[in-house]
Amino acid sequence: MARIVTVTANPLLDHIAEIPWRHGAVSRTAHITRVAGGKGVNVARVLARHGHQVTAVCLAGGHEADELARLIAADGIKPELVRTAARLRIGFQLSELQSGSVACIEDGFVVTPDERDRFVATIAEQVRGAELLIVSGSVPEVGMEDSYRRICDAAHAAGVPCWVDSYAKPMLAALAGAHPPALAKPNRQEYGVDPQPWLAARELHLTDGGGTVTVRAPEGRWRVVPPQVSEVNGIGSGDCWLAGYAHGRLSGWDIPRSLAWAAAAGAANAARAEVARIGPEDVKQLIDRVQVVQA
Ligand SMILES: Nc1ncnc2c1ncn2[C@@H]1O[C@H](COP(=O)(O)OP(=O)(O)OP(=O)(O)O)[C@@H](O)[C@H]1O
Ligand SMILES: [Mg+2]
Repeated sequence: MARIVTVTANPLLDHIAEIPWRHGAVSRTAHITRVAGGKGVNVARVLARHGHQVTAVCLAGGHEADELARLIAADGIKPELVRTAARLRIGFQLSELQSGSVACIEDGFVVTPDERDRFVATIAEQVRGAELLIVSGSVPEVGMEDSYRRICDAAHAAGVPCWVDSYAKPMLAALAGAHPPALAKPNRQEYGVDPQPWLAARELHLTDGGGTVTVRAPEGRWRVVPPQVSEVNGIGSGDCWLAGYAHGRLSGWDIPRSLAWAAAAGAANAARAEVARIGPEDVKQLIDRVQVVQA
């Protein structure tokens, strides 16, 4: 069991109802479920389900933040909230197998310079003694675009590897920093057309939904062909990939074996409606159908 810290700068308190939606009508339901959303929270949940000791650092404020912390703790993760004066963003989702789903989420929330600095300082503190730091997703405020670079510097000072799964300015700033991420995991769209900035990451996993993944590391290059599944909801598959890969590497497995576990984790997530609620048993069912080829 490893000690891992995940970072979610832009978490979300999601509200999900499993009901058909009809335009112009009030849809009534017995129950609306609240879910702790955010990419680092997803990674934390899957790692906790693999038996690891995980702390999820999140920026969040208001009563919504209390609920977020409660939901995170209920999943066996230690929540470490850095409070903002602004309330946490929220989202709504109506989903039903036949009609598909509709969702609406807020972009982010206001983060003051002081809150941003406390966020970085809290991560610097939490990462001490951890084996891995994983930073995932967007940032809630334009003033935070340099934060992931600063977090990479803090991880380096603590001697802890830092993986970053983000895009656009926060990702580019981290890649251009003095201590770039040990691992980056863009999907095709996030990767864009210019490979240059990504060369700074020690290890790169370029994923593409159900398509072939290309991986380069100082140890070698691989192509990973995911198992075929019938996709129900691909959201969070990248987070499950990272959690699966972290589980493998922190268990002392070599890169190809860890990649196979990562791909099976991503596919297991895509095959179900709930986001990032898979564990080792789901992964085992698909692992034999993953192909990892040296490139
Ligand atoms: N439809 C699918 N069938 C099989 N495997 C899948 C499918 N979708 C995702 N995966 C697995 O999960 C990995 C990550 O998926 P993807 O490239 O969609 O990540 P992502 O876009 O970063 O997702 P997110 O950011 O929502 O977590 C893929 O490389 C693949 O191994
Ligand atoms: Mg992703």
